[in-house]
Amino acid sequence: MKIIVTDSYDEMSKAAAEIFEKEIRQDSKIVLGLATGSTPIGTYEELVRKYKEEKLDFSGVTTFNLDEYVGLDVKDPNSYRFFMEEHLFNHVNTNNENTHVPDGMTVNPDEYGEKYDKMIEAAGGIRIQLLGIGSNGHIAFNEPDEELPVGTGLVNLTIQTIEDNARFFKSKEQVPTQAISMGMGSIMKAKKIVILASGEGKAEIIKKLLERGKVSTRIPATFLLLHPDVTLVCDRKAYSLVGR
Ligand code: F6R
Repeated sequence: MKIIVTDSYDEMSKAAAEIFEKEIRQDSKIVLGLATGSTPIGTYEELVRKYKEEKLDFSGVTTFNLDEYVGLDVKDPNSYRFFMEEHLFNHVNTNNENTHVPDGMTVNPDEYGEKYDKMIEAAGGIRIQLLGIGSNGHIAFNEPDEELPVGTGLVNLTIQTIEDNARFFKSKEQVPTQAISMGMGSIMKAKKIVILASGEGKAEIIKKLLERGKVSTRIPATFLLLHPDVTLVCDRKAYSLVGR
């Protein structure tokens, strides 16, 4: 795993945006895998700035997001489709038809998940995937468990994730308990992966990820150790426990 440690959140965001910029400039019809959450907001801000000030063109880009809460429709401010519009799609020239976020209102999430994976394949596969990491080691919403899903489908959120994400909702009770998430296999098929981590709250999990030298379904992010092209971009705070 390649590791880039930056002094601040802003620098982490700039470093990640630069990696994406390079890929988009190399292939104007690129397929991107995208994430939500607090961590990538600065990366999206920087990509929007590059679109506005440096002519970074998103018109041919196709995107697939990692996940969506079950039961939230696209107009719900806590839905991940809403998040993506607010932080990226409304501010760059992506073509709406080419931006995909799983449908949280689908009646059959597992069937829908299979279709989602086929759509990714039909688009040529994900060239570069952006990830955050949960404080419990989840990637997308693949939560620590005895087994991990390979394909995209319905997942149950752990209490820790519900508590971590309650900050976006009025109360913990309002956080959906299920999501549609890209599976581990779907993520691992991406040619290149960039995983972001920022702040002290991620220091423990980054230490575990980098120091154990083992994969465990109890720390889903450790599967990234098996992927040939992963870059961890994190700030000093997230890296602060490594080696200690
Ligand atoms: C978001 C996602 C999640 C987040 C993770 C970290 O699409 O799949 O795995 O990346 O929960 O979230 P933040 O960045 O809010 O700490």
